[in-house]
Amino acid sequence: MYRLFFKLALRHIDAERAHVLASWLLPTVRSTRLGRAIVRWLVGAADERLVVRALGLTFSSPLGAAAGVDKDARWVADLGALGFGCVEVGTVTAREQSGNPRPRVARVVGDRALVNRMGFPNPGAHAVAERLRHRPETPVVGVNIGKSAGTPLDSAASDYRASVQQLAGLADYIVLNVSSPNTPRLREMQSVALLGPLVGEVRSELNAAGRQVPLLVKIGPDLDDVELDAVSALAVELALDGIVAVNTTVDRGALTDPTHSTVAFAGGGVSGAPLRSRALEVLRRLHANVGDSLVLISVGGIETADDAWERILAGATLVQAYSGFIYGGPAWPRAINRALARRVGDAGCASIQEVVGAGQARPRSPVMPSRGSGAASLSPNPSSPQTYCGQGPNGAPLGK
Ligand SMILES: Cc1cc2nc3c(=O)[nH]c(=O)nc-3n(C[C@H](O)[C@H](O)[C@H](O)COP(=O)(O)O)c2cc1C
Repeated sequence: MYRLFFKLALRHIDAERAHVLASWLLPTVRSTRLGRAIVRWLVGAADERLVVRALGLTFSSPLGAAAGVDKDARWVADLGALGFGCVEVGTVTAREQSGNPRPRVARVVGDRALVNRMGFPNPGAHAVAERLRHRPETPVVGVNIGKSAGTPLDSAASDYRASVQQLAGLADYIVLNVSSPNTPRLREMQSVALLGPLVGEVRSELNAAGRQVPLLVKIGPDLDDVELDAVSALAVELALDGIVAVNTTVDRGALTDPTHSTVAFAGGGVSGAPLRSRALEVLRRLHANVGDSLVLISVGGIETADDAWERILAGATLVQAYSGFIYGGPAWPRAINRALARRVGDAGCASIQEVVGAGQARPRSPVMPSRGSGAASLSPNPSSPQTYCGQGPNGAPLGK
């Protein structure tokens, strides 16, 4: 039904306008008791097999709403009600900013992709903090923090600190976004020379606030192997809690839809299906480098439960999506959750957490920057039922 609605109506509306409409419609439906009951009935109860314990938190599902879906913490509860185990709010900047001029999001429907050059429009850390004071206990809420557009690179750390000061007490985890292609020079902060001091400054702010909030960094897909190895080694050295990989790509090479040149615009980053293979490649490399010493959150091109399962086998403890949700509609998280829960049963496991990294070769040792391409992987077919937990499908003992 959503596909038909998308084809007939939604795709003819500006992508950002459609997003704003959805972020108004869902809370409106859920503002009534009947509306909440209908959504609960449609989505169903959370499945125990999907519960993930990571970062000292409990996620009802490994599937989260990626940063950008709820930029200003307006529909956390509603996204949770649709089945997301986590919402990564943001990107939030220290000061309110309006972002780049519109239009700034385009759908490339033939490729099931989006191109966006939003530039972090958001109401600022203080306003987001005010909203989060009324946040529900579930889903888990991460806050993704970025640099204000007008802040020069050499003052970036104080800008991030200002946001952390406002938000540390309200976020379940914090992500330092150093990888959006839409804020000038931001991606330079992925370098070891800049990221190390930034993490140090943010840590000082967290210590000053007396908060031990898990701290992660979000990286982009356009880093080469040497840069990926350097950033993962640094993350281990700095004892970060995890890495979110990946942000959108500036590479348009994977876009094939001939209409994209007319609908898309200069600049921006590509997300959705064209990002899938690169996001998986990056995850495999990260996992080969860091093993389970960091929580890896994989994002980029996840459209199906197979995609999500493949990421988990490749070492992702959690996964996130933006474009898959836009193209899949409100019932999409539920469908992914149901199919994932079935997968857990078919794999002979009691919990999805038991298969994290099960399809991946052991990490390289020691964790040091290295050259070469492609991390080793056992590359299981994500859609073929395979047991991982010493039981047959759906918990039957093996060999019986
Ligand atoms: C319209 C749009 C806005 C986004 N805004 C942010 C953002 O503010 N901060 C961020 O870290 N990532 C942002 N992203 C990137 C997503 O979080 C995600 O990393 C990327 O889209 C790849 O996932 P996907 O293929 O599932 O869309 C945005 C993506 C889109 C499409």
